[in-house]
Amino acid sequence: MKVYVIANQKGGIGKTTTATALASILAERGYRTLFIDADKQGNSSDTYRADIEGVPTLYDVLLDDDRIPLADAIQATLCGDIVASDPLLRKADKILYDDVEGLYRLQDALQNLKGYDYVVIDTNPSIDAMLKSCLIACDEVIIPITADRYALQGLSQLHEMIQAIKRRQNPNLKIAGLLLVKYDRRTNLSKEVKESLERVVDHLDTRLFHTKIRESIRAREAQAKRLMLIQYQKNCTTAADYEHFVDELLKGE
Ligand SMILES: Nc1ncnc2c1ncn2[C@@H]1O[C@H](COP(=O)(O)OP(=O)(O)O)[C@@H](O)[C@H]1O
Ligand SMILES: [Mg+2]
Repeated sequence: MKVYVIANQKGGIGKTTTATALASILAERGYRTLFIDADKQGNSSDTYRADIEGVPTLYDVLLDDDRIPLADAIQATLCGDIVASDPLLRKADKILYDDVEGLYRLQDALQNLKGYDYVVIDTNPSIDAMLKSCLIACDEVIIPITADRYALQGLSQLHEMIQAIKRRQNPNLKIAGLLLVKYDRRTNLSKEVKESLERVVDHLDTRLFHTKIRESIRAREAQAKRLMLIQYQKNCTTAADYEHFVDELLKGE
């Protein structure tokens, strides 16, 4: 089983779009895939049309006094299997930091999970206990970025956290790569952005995926309609790019 985390501390970058696209494409290709929505905003749970009330969620797995196995919180939806988010995840910082082993709860939960080839985790746009737990529990991080200066500047904090977790808790943690998303082919990358992108890739000791995810109105519409991109418009440029991205990702395994 391989666990991918999609992370970037900025909101609105394309994490949820990337996470749901990756999971749905893996599932479509026949891999047994589980999605975990570790963002308390629950945008992915919304796209999956998962229940967040009256059913076990990630909260019950990680934060409740009577914690349950991850397998008991899985909802089978038309989009695939998901452990849904919960607004109560906002309590994660307090609960996970108060317990000496709190940050390892997700890792423990995943180690007891059987029957999946891939797990894809969508995360908060913040550097917090939940993100830390995800980075401790995963094999690889995929970092979606957009091609502007400010998007790149914000990466140093995330990088520091990844480095610290590699040193202390998860030596095998790997950055799978940076993925350029919401890319507009008509506007060539400015020299400045190109240079800083190269610097960031170098500094993070990772790669930039060759595949760039183009911007399309379809991607925005799909999210607004609470649909997976590959369900909504399988042949749009953005969906096709995500297919190529998954090819590239799996080739690197
Ligand atoms: N390739 C794309 N083309 C056009 N719009 C996109 C694309 N990727 C994401 N978006 C839109 O950008 C917004 C933020 O994306 P989202 O995936 O929710 O980011 P995050 O999870 O990082 O906050 C959403 O409205 C989404 O539909
Ligand atoms: Mg999101």
